[in-house]
Amino acid sequence: MVDGCAVKLAEAMSQEILVLGPTGKTGRRVVRALSAAGVQIRPASRSSAVRFDWSDESTWQPALHGVTAAYVIAPYDPAAAEPFVRLAKSSGVRRLVLLSGRGLDEAPAEFFQGMRAAEEALRASDLSWTILRANNFNQNFSEEIWESEVRAGRLSLPVDGTPEPFVDVQDIAEVATLVLTSNGEHDGQTYNLTGPEALTFTDALRKISPAIELVELTPAEYHDALLSQGVPEAEAAELNAVYEAMRKGLLATPTDDITRLLGRPATSFDTYVATTWR
Ligand SMILES: NC(=O)c1ccc[n+]([C@@H]2O[C@H](COP(=O)([O-])OP(=O)(O)OC[C@H]3O[C@@H](n4cnc5c(N)ncnc54)[C@H](OP(=O)(O)O)[C@@H]3O)[C@@H](O)[C@H]2O)c1
Repeated sequence: MVDGCAVKLAEAMSQEILVLGPTGKTGRRVVRALSAAGVQIRPASRSSAVRFDWSDESTWQPALHGVTAAYVIAPYDPAAAEPFVRLAKSSGVRRLVLLSGRGLDEAPAEFFQGMRAAEEALRASDLSWTILRANNFNQNFSEEIWESEVRAGRLSLPVDGTPEPFVDVQDIAEVATLVLTSNGEHDGQTYNLTGPEALTFTDALRKISPAIELVELTPAEYHDALLSQGVPEAEAAELNAVYEAMRKGLLATPTDDITRLLGRPATSFDTYVATTWR
């Protein structure tokens, strides 16, 4: 007699799951977590053996062919979202799990259009879908985004004393893995993934090293700094909108979604620091 767990494992092992963004902060951990669960995976990005490029539609069908589910990082171009979801459906994909951003509803409509369009395309589809809306990642301090400034000892951002419940990307990957291998319990759900506590940037940096200085910029100073680094105007405005939402406190409250989903507390910033910076 085969019990329920064995059936679930057998089903998971017979699936092949497409992982977009597999070289990125969340995707490479989703690849690891799915592989550890014995699931066959298909990593696909511009640099993968299976090539997937949002800006080259001819790469989509080979990536989608034969997979049962996909972990999706939203495209930058909103026009790509609905055709991708339609192609996923016609290719036989049954489940999509989308990484999105917390506070999307509160951001001005002209920003994050790719992410918005991806959420809308999932919601309008008759696929099984789940949306993971995440706060700022712990790993922004150590993998890209703020890393070089943090390592140089001086982080300049348009932030104030509003706390942020930074979330660990390992938790996001474990939630994505749970949902991708589930039997429908998470269909049609939007989860808000945060860390267990909200910390100011000053406190977060102090935990990494008291020697790191936080320079609080005005939005105009931040905008000018981004442009001088070659960031396009539209992207600079979008980034400023994120920090504005943070300063307004719209993303400041921790949720218990990770605890409820994983049956354990979300990873604390102290644990992130101990495992990454010590
Ligand atoms: N950082 C945060 O705090 C935060 C918070 C909430 C939500 N998010 C969202 O998280 C997403 C990024 O996820 P992440 O941090 O895990 O990834 P990431 O570290 O930014 O890496 C991006 C991944 O996407 C791939 N990629 C880039 N351009 C692509 C293209 N044109 N076509 C196909 N693949 C492409 C890259 O691989 P190749 O270079 O090989 O193509 C890489 O694997 C964004 O949508 C962001 O808005 C971030």
